[in-house]
Amino acid sequence: MSLFARKPLDHLQEELEKGPELKRVLGPWGLMLLGLGNIIGAGIFVITGQAAAKYAGPAITVSFVLVALACILAAICYAEFAASLPIAGSAYTYAYTSMGELMAWTIGWDLMLEYLFSAAAVAVGWSGYVVSFMKDLHVVIPPALSSAPLAFSPEHGLHTTGALFNFPAALILLFCGGMLYRGISESAKVNNIIVAIKMVVLLLLILFGMSHIDMSNYTPFLPPNTGEFGSFGWSGVFRGSAVVFFAYIGFDAVSTAAQESRNPQKDMPIGIIGSLLLSTVVYIAVALIITGIVNYSKLNVPDPIAVAVDQVGPSLYWLRPIVKIGAIAGLSSVILVSLLGQTRVFFAMSRDGLLPPIFSHLDPKLQTPTITTMMTTGATIVVAGLLPIDILGELVSIGTLLAFALVCGSIPILRKTAPDLPRPFKVPLSPVLPIIGVLTFVGMMLTLPGETWWRLLIWMGIGFAIYFFYGHKHSKLQKHLRTQLDENMPGKL
Ligand code: ALA
Repeated sequence: MSLFARKPLDHLQEELEKGPELKRVLGPWGLMLLGLGNIIGAGIFVITGQAAAKYAGPAITVSFVLVALACILAAICYAEFAASLPIAGSAYTYAYTSMGELMAWTIGWDLMLEYLFSAAAVAVGWSGYVVSFMKDLHVVIPPALSSAPLAFSPEHGLHTTGALFNFPAALILLFCGGMLYRGISESAKVNNIIVAIKMVVLLLLILFGMSHIDMSNYTPFLPPNTGEFGSFGWSGVFRGSAVVFFAYIGFDAVSTAAQESRNPQKDMPIGIIGSLLLSTVVYIAVALIITGIVNYSKLNVPDPIAVAVDQVGPSLYWLRPIVKIGAIAGLSSVILVSLLGQTRVFFAMSRDGLLPPIFSHLDPKLQTPTITTMMTTGATIVVAGLLPIDILGELVSIGTLLAFALVCGSIPILRKTAPDLPRPFKVPLSPVLPIIGVLTFVGMMLTLPGETWWRLLIWMGIGFAIYFFYGHKHSKLQKHLRTQLDENMPGKL
């Protein structure tokens, strides 16, 4: 039964009061910008065009609306938790207090798929944009030095590609890891600048693209199904939703910075929900503009926004390099905040004894977990250098969907087990909305391919092995329970 032992809320309080302090520097805007930094990236700059071309046509906008509705369910659940339990570990800590240690470990290990692997996936996307930008400047980076040496295809399984290592991906990870090493204030400042750049670029696209919309590109708005499930028609809109889900991932990373927030009770919900709503508006506008400027069938390219700009002709050529710079900058902040999220989850797991103490070591001067930052950056470089973006992207999606489902499921449980916990923000209509959330996210997981499920199971299997060999034995909560049992029943242990 000790596997399901829940972390008492007073332990959290004690840790907050006595534990090592992260620097509290983030206000509501800083948190919202952190969210935008992590949300807007490869999803809108790369995936939207491909999803429109392959699955939904201009109706990809409808996919964006549907996924936003689903993500709102997760966002309000994260907001309730982050405001009432403002601790660095995010979903991991929420599960520890509501569903017990084994579930907390499951979610903590699963969050690596979201944060560590999405930092790697987006670094690979960044590498693609940089290679294309350098090519525009007549500098050719050979594919052997800028792509993955491993690939997967249903016919050949996992095979080598002849490439050596994705060096540009490693470079951007090193840069972001270096920023985080220096401290949260510096990282937040860089993030704010990057968010400003990518928002301005997307706003320029919306403003200048609007007058070039050709209404004939919207007919038909929902291209008829080709006879195959997921290829246009309504099934295409749903498949498109599963794909553009990637674009929304990141609003939850705000919750990992709860211990770095000045007033988490009030500001966490603003940061989480605000960044999601703002990016939803931008996504819908950008999707409408690009599918309005260019026929959706031409958007299956790595740089769909640049293609849309080209379609307009010479009057918008000036925007082309700006779009690429916006994408390169935009993707960098996604990497930065994903790495930040990962280090803070490791920090919380180590503080609970489930990971070795080195993961929660704080540098006394910088007040950041410097060793974890270096180790996380190193691990991400290996993953990004070796694996292609499709494998990484699908792992990120399944991992994040599982985390969202578990967070939604934890809300009604904690409401029951800790009814008196002060909740500055409450999910309305609980348990109805959280349950709809669980069903929606599990349903979306079911749309992902079988191989991705196998990879998830293998990943979780490795995680459970580590838990039983290390985490369970070193868990502070288990030690506390054993001491209590020994005091109550001396000689039994
Ligand atoms: N939402 C992030 C992106 O689109 C992961 O890059």
